[in-house]
Formats: sequence, structure tokens, C-alpha cells
Amino acid sequence: MAYQNILLQEENNILTITINRPDQLNALNKQTIEELNKALSLADVNPSVRVIIITGSGEKAFVAGADIKEFAAFSIEEGRMLSRAGHKLLFDFVENMSKPVIAAVNGFALGGGLELAMSAHVRVASDNAKMGLPEVSLGVIPGYGGTQRLAQLVGKGKAMEMIATAGMMNAADALQWGLVNYVVPQADLLTTCKDLATKMSKNSPVAIAAAYRSILSGYKNGVNGFESEIAEFGKCFGTADFKEGTTAFIEKRKPSFTGN
Ligand code: COA
Repeated sequence: MAYQNILLQEENNILTITINRPDQLNALNKQTIEELNKALSLADVNPSVRVIIITGSGEKAFVAGADIKEFAAFSIEEGRMLSRAGHKLLFDFVENMSKPVIAAVNGFALGGGLELAMSAHVRVASDNAKMGLPEVSLGVIPGYGGTQRLAQLVGKGKAMEMIATAGMMNAADALQWGLVNYVVPQADLLTTCKDLATKMSKNSPVAIAAAYRSILSGYKNGVNGFESEIAEFGKCFGTADFKEGTTAFIEKRKPSFTGN
């Protein structure tokens, strides 16, 4: 598939996806969400891809939100469908991917942009990044998981404040609040993300996927995360990666994981 709004680059088992609508500050319109879904779906089942980095084109914005121009005239039902489709195609999809997704936040991450970054498993921000959920300033609420994931990451009190003020957080505050894992100069952003991705890519893909399923299960209603952990832990013992990892340790060599 030829993509209009995203660029893909795969190197050393790391797929970098760049959202490429810089003149619209990489705002997420329907087509971009569909293209991201397609690229991520293919990456999820491609064994040569072990880690995915998502970033924005240019130096100004990661993603400045959902495309306001596209939804400004929507009805109640269209609004609900927009939110539901977004959850399914992109935001839940990213969070539930079987391989780590790193958001390289290279500038404004607002609304759907911050929601996309929060769906990723790890966030690294450049020092010029600004993050916020300004939806209530438009008369709407975060609809791509923001009301849930912001509270999970920074706590309920700060999420209540950020959402109601529609305020923006700078990178240093985001780091202090645990919204991002690291802040680095913009010039070092992709290198830092690739270094992290390289470390992840050397470990067992099946074990990482199992660990992520276990972590995420703790955030689901009615699911006991500890029980999920016990089940996932047990399943690891039946994998080739477990055999390889433990054998390599005993033989005092580096493991070579196949992801099986
Ligand atoms: N949806 C659609 N278009 C957007 C957009 C969005 N979320 N964010 C930015 N753009 C467009 C602008 O309309 C403008 O397009 P135009 O040149 O065709 O008019 C272009 O991107 C550049 O944005 P501009 O506002 O001129 O840049 P700025 O430097 O003055 O301001 C922001 C940058 C990020 C502060 C400002 O663009 C903004 O507030 N964007 C909306 C953020 C938001 O509310 N997101 C949540 C959406 S639910």
C-alpha cells in the first residue's frame, strides 16, 4: 500500500513511522489514522520488526491533535463513531501491540497527539515538546483514551487539572510528572529512541509481549493482574525463546532469540 501521510523506515529490526502532514502540524485525520492502522497491523505480524518508533515530521509538532477541521460539523452519532473508530484502529491498537512502541515526541503533542503518545508503551520527549489535552477549550472532551490514560500516568488529580484547564505541560514538567520517560535535546531524540529500541530488540519478543499483556491486564476491569501474570509466566516455559535464554545463560553466551 502506498501511504500519503506517513513515512516508514525499517533498520536493524526497528520500524520508524513518521506522521507526515507538517503543514497541518501532523494532525490526525481519518486517512492518517487508517494508514497508521495498516502500517502497524503489518508491523505487528512482521517478525523482522521488533520495536516501533512513532514520531512526527518537522521540528515543531509530534501531532497537534485530531483534525479539528474534519470533525467540526459532526453530529452526536458521528462524534461517537469517530471516537470508537479511533480507539479501535489506533489508540487501543497501539497499546495492545505485541511489540514495544516508543513515541518520540518531537514537539507539540496535543489532544489526539498526546493520546497517541500515551497509547505507546514508552515516551521520550525533546526538550521543546509541549503536551496537553486542550479538548475542553473546543467544547469537547478527550475521546481517544485521554481521560483514562492521562490519569493512569500522572494520577487523577493532575489529570483533572490538566484536562479542565486545557493547559500545556512543558517537557521538564512532563518528566517530573511521569508523563514521559526521558527528555533529551531535539537533535538526540531519534538516537535516544533507537538506543532504547535496540536494547529491547535483543530480548525475547514473546516474553516482552507476555509481560506487556500482563501489565495491561491490571488496568482492565474485572481482570486480576496477578492471575494474568501467573498464566503468562507459565506459558513462557513452553517457548523456544525460554529454552534459548536459559541455555545461553548456562553456556555463558549471549542469547539469540527467534521470537518463538
Ligand atoms: N486540526 C487541524 N488542523 C490543525 C490542528 C488540528 N488539531 N492543529 C494545527 N492545525 C493546522 C492549523 O489550522 C494551520 O493550518 P492552516 O495553515 O491551513 O490554517 C496549521 O496547522 C499550522 O497551525 P497554526 O495554528 O497556524 O500554528 P501555531 O504555531 O500558530 O499554533 C498550535 C500551534 C499547536 C498551538 C495550534 O495549531 C493549535 O492550538 N492547534 C490545535 C490544538 C488542539 O486543540 N488539539 C486538540 C484537537 S481535539
